[in-house]
Amino acid sequence: MAVVFDSGFGKLCVIALLLFIGRVYSEPIQDKQALLAFLSRTRHANRVQWNSSGSACDWVGVECDGNRSYVYSLRLPGVGLVGPIPANTLGRLSQLRVLSLRSNRLSGEIPSDFSNLTLLRSLYLQGNELSGEFPSSLTQLTRLTRLDLSSNNFTGPIPFSVNNLTRLTGLLLENNGFSGTLPSITADLVNFNVSNNMLNGSIPPTLQKFSASAFAGNLDLCGKPLPPCIPFFPSPAPSPSVNPSPIPVSKKSKKLSTGAIVGIAVGSAVVFLLLLIFLVVCLKKRQRRQEPKPQKPPVTTRSVAAEAGTSSSKDDITGASIETERNKLVFFDGGVYSFDLEDLLRASAEVLGKGSVGTSYKAVLEEGTTVVVKRLKDVVVTKKEFEMQMEVLGKIKHENAVPLRAFYYSKDEKLLVYDYMPAGSLSALLHGSRGSGRTPLDWDNRMRIALGAARGMAHLHVSGKVVHGNVKSSNILLRPDHDACVSDFGLNPLFGTSTPPNRVAGYRAPEVVETRKVTFKSDVYSFGVLLLELLTGKAPNQASLGEEGIDLPRWVQSVVREEWTAEVFDVELMRYHNIEEEMVQLLQIAMACVSTVPDQRPAMQEVVRMIEDMNRGETDEGLRQSSDDPSKGSDGHTPPPESRTPPRAITP
Ligand SMILES: *[C@@H]1O[C@H](CO)[C@@H](O)[C@H](O)[C@H]1NC(C)=O
Ligand SMILES: *[C@@H]1O[C@H](CO)[C@@H](O)[C@H](O)[C@H]1NC(C)=O
Ligand SMILES: *[C@@H]1O[C@H](CO)[C@@H](O)[C@H](O)[C@H]1NC(C)=O
Ligand SMILES: *[C@@H]1O[C@H](CO)[C@@H](O)[C@H](O)[C@H]1NC(C)=O
Ligand SMILES: *[C@@H]1O[C@H](CO)[C@@H](O)[C@H](O)[C@H]1NC(C)=O
Ligand SMILES: *[C@@H]1O[C@H](CO)[C@@H](O)[C@H](O)[C@H]1NC(C)=O
Ligand SMILES: *[C@@H]1O[C@H](CO)[C@@H](O)[C@H](O)[C@H]1NC(C)=O
Repeated sequence: MAVVFDSGFGKLCVIALLLFIGRVYSEPIQDKQALLAFLSRTRHANRVQWNSSGSACDWVGVECDGNRSYVYSLRLPGVGLVGPIPANTLGRLSQLRVLSLRSNRLSGEIPSDFSNLTLLRSLYLQGNELSGEFPSSLTQLTRLTRLDLSSNNFTGPIPFSVNNLTRLTGLLLENNGFSGTLPSITADLVNFNVSNNMLNGSIPPTLQKFSASAFAGNLDLCGKPLPPCIPFFPSPAPSPSVNPSPIPVSKKSKKLSTGAIVGIAVGSAVVFLLLLIFLVVCLKKRQRRQEPKPQKPPVTTRSVAAEAGTSSSKDDITGASIETERNKLVFFDGGVYSFDLEDLLRASAEVLGKGSVGTSYKAVLEEGTTVVVKRLKDVVVTKKEFEMQMEVLGKIKHENAVPLRAFYYSKDEKLLVYDYMPAGSLSALLHGSRGSGRTPLDWDNRMRIALGAARGMAHLHVSGKVVHGNVKSSNILLRPDHDACVSDFGLNPLFGTSTPPNRVAGYRAPEVVETRKVTFKSDVYSFGVLLLELLTGKAPNQASLGEEGIDLPRWVQSVVREEWTAEVFDVELMRYHNIEEEMVQLLQIAMACVSTVPDQRPAMQEVVRMIEDMNRGETDEGLRQSSDDPSKGSDGHTPPPESRTPPRAITP
């Protein structure tokens, strides 16, 4: 007996225990107090009456280990427990292996002290009214083998950190409100169910062994065992292959000619064969003339998914249709890709983002090439105008601009094909999951991004004569070495004035709000906001600037005016030394760019020069020293961009 008590009552207990010591080994006093605290604070049915003068090991639903020294399991299924699980009660059962509170009316969130149940192996909480996000306390219970949270009111994503639970064999989450995509779960699960939630996206390969009923009733899950994730491209109405030219032989016509061959074998005449082929072609042509092309309304991705669910093979989708003759995927010269529209249709696609101009998909072609396909919506220009703008954009080749590789134009579909940039966007890097163990973007890399983006913009303006029109941090994509590339440029002319140019508030130059016209100078303004974003770490389109409705430039101006310059900078930059002067210099450049009067803003090529001059002023510290850019000469000059490695963002 090594239990120390500080109250008179405690002493009494010890004496009582000593008297019984022959019969009872010991009494899990800590656990008993925790259990009593739980029950006294939770409404429950009468039949759970724990006799506080007896041993907790004899109570209804409680099981102790062989020595009766700790509570091993607690099972209170369907005993009318109502309300939230009180904090700091069950979490104190430090030796607990099994906890079942299923089929009650427990509500609220799971208390965070559940993370202290480190030995827990099974947790059954199904059939309650528990809510909140997937409890982060549970992903720390690394011994869990079975976790049942089904039929509750949980919401939010299923976190990737469930992979912390490496011993898990059962994970039951059905009948909740979980949303987002399914993480890839590596544990060797035997039972798994996420049906009737609000999940979307593709089912990761590790979970594809489970039956369709484990995934049913979600928002938009796709991929094995459910219908395949359909390429972004709604297939036009099924009609026989249009292209009668001899090159592409579709499966369908192959079958037909096999039938023909049998016939010919009987007739055994070569002339007959030719005749038959002629006949088949004629027949097909007539067939086509007879069925008028159904004018289908624009099909949404979802309904395509549904369509595909009924058709078993890919060929039905792809071989279906496309007016390949007139509407081709048009590649630009010097491209590195060799695939056609049908390859693109067969690709597995994943939504990268939905923007105001349309949706972007990451498409992985069957041969392994990855590209980004942007599916434009609300294009107003004619085909001719579209093609003219594409020609302009296709010519833009610069290491700091994401190249447009191909486009597709039909009545219902306008697609653009770009290189895929696996390192993601500046926006994600700056604002993604702040705080939680991420590596902050350091100053050298921010400078590098600023300079790269400025060069890309200057190239657009000077050589390409193209207004970007949508400068924002999510349109600055990065190469793995943090070289920045501008993307999504020059699309405004396709949309007319019904869609506001530079649609993200916060980057929009003041005059653009009025005129709805983007100009070189309004690009410079947006670029200035981007620089401020790099410096402050604040997203200009988020109202995190204190006052409501105040934009980033005005916020910076107000802070700087009151001479708290240091306070405008991103706290993540505070750890670096000797950069203050550079930060102030860049801030000055940014402030020049965001002048309210367009004519007071510098031109993009001047901005580049100012940023370059800034670098040159440095000595050994900072950018040059830690920059691993091989193309930067030792004299600090940057050679012309052409000497760098050409853009390659294709993943194998
Ligand atoms: C509670 O337990 C004590 C000691 O084990 C026993 O004497 C008493 O009768 C029990 N009370 C009830 C209501 O069961
Ligand atoms: C009971 O306690 C003894 C000594 O503390 C230990 O050796 C034994 O393994 C325990 N038995 C069980 C079943 O926990
Ligand atoms: C877990 O237990 C430790 C020590 O018993 C305690 O200090 C801590 O507060 C507990 N954690 C939670 C989340 O209650
Ligand atoms: C689940 O939450 C929703 C919204 O908060 C609420 O309307 C609903 O009643 C809850 N369901 C249960 C079973 O508690
Ligand atoms: C994963 O488990 C470890 C203990 O093994 C814990 O320290 C960590 O916090 C857990 N991570 C998450 C995200 O729960
Ligand atoms: C899933 O849904 C969320 C919210 O509706 C959306 O942001 C996300 O892009 C979707 N993901 C996929 C892969 O469809
Ligand atoms: C998953 O749960 C749903 C709803 O409770 C059920 O209908 C389905 O049979 C379950 N599927 C599997 C594989 O357990």
